[in-house]
Amino acid sequence: MKEPRIKLGVNVDHVATLRQARKDIDPDPIAAAQVARQAGADLIVCHLRRDRRHIQDADLLKLCRLKGETHVELADDDKMVAAVLKARPTSVCLVPERPGEVSTEGGLDLAKNNKSLERTIAKLKKSGLEVSLFIAPEAPSVRAARNLGADVVEFDTSDYAAARTKPAQKEQIERLELATYMAWEMGLTAHAGHGLDYHNVAPIARVPHMSALNIGYSIIARSVFVGLRSAVSEMRRLVD
Ligand code: PXP
Repeated sequence: MKEPRIKLGVNVDHVATLRQARKDIDPDPIAAAQVARQAGADLIVCHLRRDRRHIQDADLLKLCRLKGETHVELADDDKMVAAVLKARPTSVCLVPERPGEVSTEGGLDLAKNNKSLERTIAKLKKSGLEVSLFIAPEAPSVRAARNLGADVVEFDTSDYAAARTKPAQKEQIERLELATYMAWEMGLTAHAGHGLDYHNVAPIARVPHMSALNIGYSIIARSVFVGLRSAVSEMRRLVD
């Protein structure tokens, strides 16, 4: 049976990073989300960080009012959960967040944060949101995510993105294939992201049972040279 088309999630955080460099109104992540959608993004993704370094609460509210699916990354933190519940996106992804980190540094430690995560997942699901957990592509994490009640797992692709040789890349692809198959068998939807770009995305888009890829930095960086519409449609072509 033919697999459904893989979804492309475009993360617009770094449009807001540029705006926040001057704390001005341009470039507007909401306008960017609209262009990204017209160019082939299925999901608009953003990360509401505790330090509000890029996306602001007002951005989140506006992004969630746009037509189409909005996917929000957040830390397991009561204040963040309250802000996201107020905005009502389509889905969320719980991620670890370390103060001062440049970007998300790996998947959640599901053993360590069990009780709190379980409560947060239940709360988000009760509000009708689809809940994803950002995890390493490892069997124990997939199992733990299922036991915690997640609907979706997003596999961290940073080890794959950091692999510099063909054998190292192959090893990471096989790791992702195995974890994705395991998630599928357990009834979890599989997503992947972090560090994906125009050079490395194609093999991940071909992983069987992979449902969506979330990509931010490389698309926004390329848009500086070719414009956002072209940057998103080039990525769309590589993912399809
Ligand atoms: N998925 C998650 C959970 C993330 O935290 C990020 C970074 O915001 C991404 C995907 C996108 O990563 P990148 O910006 O490297 O494409």
